[in-house]
Amino acid sequence: MLVLGVETSCDETGLALVEGNEGEIKVIGSILSSQVAKHRAYGGVVPELAVRAHLDVLPSMTAQFMVENHVSWDDLDAVAVTRGPGLVASLLVGLNFARGLALATGLPLFGINHLEGHLYSAFLAEGQWPVFPFIGLIVSGGHTLIVLAEKEDRLVRLGGTLDDAAGECLDKIARLLGLPYPGGPEIERRAVGGDAFRFYFPRSFEKADTFDFSFSGLKTAVRYFLEKQNPDILRDAQFIADVCASVQEAVMEILAKKAVLAAQRHDVRRIAVGGGVACNGRLQALLSQLCQEEGIVLHVTPPALCTDNAIMIAGVGLMKIRYQVAPDLFCEAEPGWSLQ
Ligand code: KG4
Ligand code: ZN
Repeated sequence: MLVLGVETSCDETGLALVEGNEGEIKVIGSILSSQVAKHRAYGGVVPELAVRAHLDVLPSMTAQFMVENHVSWDDLDAVAVTRGPGLVASLLVGLNFARGLALATGLPLFGINHLEGHLYSAFLAEGQWPVFPFIGLIVSGGHTLIVLAEKEDRLVRLGGTLDDAAGECLDKIARLLGLPYPGGPEIERRAVGGDAFRFYFPRSFEKADTFDFSFSGLKTAVRYFLEKQNPDILRDAQFIADVCASVQEAVMEILAKKAVLAAQRHDVRRIAVGGGVACNGRLQALLSQLCQEEGIVLHVTPPALCTDNAIMIAGVGLMKIRYQVAPDLFCEAEPGWSLQ
């Protein structure tokens, strides 16, 4: 089975060809046109710019991608496209383009939940079908979720953020510190050599019996903290490093602890982590330490599959075929789609 994946939910235009058989999953090719540079001046994603960029690149990029990978339309078994969640106009570009491809070629079309992509991406990167049950920690710029994945058609949301997503919080704090977008990787870079315990920033619901998160309080705490400092201190590289390390610690510690707590509470011995924030080395280190202590198997998504990409979309498309889900040529964009 060979599936073409199309991803345009936010600011990356992605295409991927992923092949699967009973035993394994293999990436045949993948390409990403990133718009980060276009949005950087604005400190976040500008939907109008994102749509134009998707429209500009998608048709020619697809034609070239198929040729470069020596794949013809007859070789494909399906087209999979992100249906949501995401920016509605960005989603519509990819969805209508993929629908056009499906109509022209007669291939089945699967509308994919972007969060399912992040949920399964660690397994896809290992070249294997997901192993159920597992706890999924999805941490990106738009989402922070803990999911109990019991089976492919039984995903139970255990908790999530009540306000800002973890990545969004890092992006906003980076802005307060005068650091460029996207803030998460920048904070990680600046945190190297910083003292993570010099400043204490709040961890939401640390002691509460919940799998929910709140990150807006952390952002506000950093804002008040900075307002109390002499503005010149923002030019002090060691101060920035210490703030970045302390902020990173506050975010990653609560994410790792809650994911492991979810596994213990539901007696699941496996955790998979995905989404842009899963690139974070400190999060990976904390998770691997806690999982080792608790005898939990950890599946970490490698950086190339953490941030938005089409491999995860094609991969979930393969799962739809494997589990005999009906295709839907007329599926609509679902900008606010969550997991069931
Ligand atoms: O999954 P993603 O590419 O897009 C969304 O679906 O949101 O995630 C992007 C988010 C941004 O907020 C970015 O700051 C964060 O992931 N991010 C990181 C790192 N790399 C990306 N956060 C912390 N550490 C990183 N190394
Ligand atoms: Zn994403």
